[in-house]
Amino acid sequence: MIPIIDYTKYPKPRSRHHVSSNQYLPRDQICIEPRYYPPLRPQIEWCAHFVNGRAPEYLDIGCGMGRFLLEMALREPSVNILGLEVREYAVRWIRRVIDGERPRGILGNAEALWYNVANGLPFCSDASIRKIFYLFPDPWFKKRHHYRRAFTVAFLNECARVLRSDGILYLMTDVPDVDRYQREILCQHGGFVIEECSDDAEWEEIPVHTDQEEFCLRKGIPYTRIRCYKRTTER
Ligand SMILES: C[S@@+](CC[C@H](N)C(=O)[O-])C[C@H]1O[C@@H](n2cnc3c(N)ncnc32)[C@H](O)[C@@H]1O
Repeated sequence: MIPIIDYTKYPKPRSRHHVSSNQYLPRDQICIEPRYYPPLRPQIEWCAHFVNGRAPEYLDIGCGMGRFLLEMALREPSVNILGLEVREYAVRWIRRVIDGERPRGILGNAEALWYNVANGLPFCSDASIRKIFYLFPDPWFKKRHHYRRAFTVAFLNECARVLRSDGILYLMTDVPDVDRYQREILCQHGGFVIEECSDDAEWEEIPVHTDQEEFCLRKGIPYTRIRCYKRTTER
């Protein structure tokens, strides 16, 4: 039986701290020392984060309030899953849930860190990750805000480096412009083969919905689902 979390024990924060535009930039592109910026994480001692002391196998990038991260962790208790999120208050809330539930012997395999993924994934070893989830990224519709999109060739280089040879990058978005933009970046990068998943059966290894996906399902908003495989000579 999959354990159930009573989320009503963990009231969600009311005040939503503003995320300054600097926080989306890589640290080396900011000239003045920012007063409030997610810490850089050149390396991480995993034993301080996961009960089994091992490195993560799944990454949830832009995990938001962590619904997907927490529910996946409950379904796959032997797999460590790390959420990365630029909004600190969201990470604090997820940590509260994890700390509250670990005494029950669950969520020892879940962790969320305040981090800007534009700074890469230096704390992940090469070929160590089985699945990267990049689900419903912020759209940043205006062209002058596109620099805030974390999905870049540099980001894909990092994904390709940390993914195992059979690893998969999962993408979902409900914004056609983001979908187009991401396909362009994937095409520029050239290191991934794309597989479109139009029906639920093709997506069955992902049994959990994200918050944004739930929203889309409630409102009848269509969204795309893509699996990206690392290109090998056989493909
Ligand atoms: C639209 S929300 C989607 C959240 C969740 N994945 C879902 O599907 O419900 C996008 C999330 O990505 C986070 N985000 C945006 N840029 C980021 C970055 N550079 N590093 C880490 N997280 C980022 C945002 O703060 C936000 O919580």
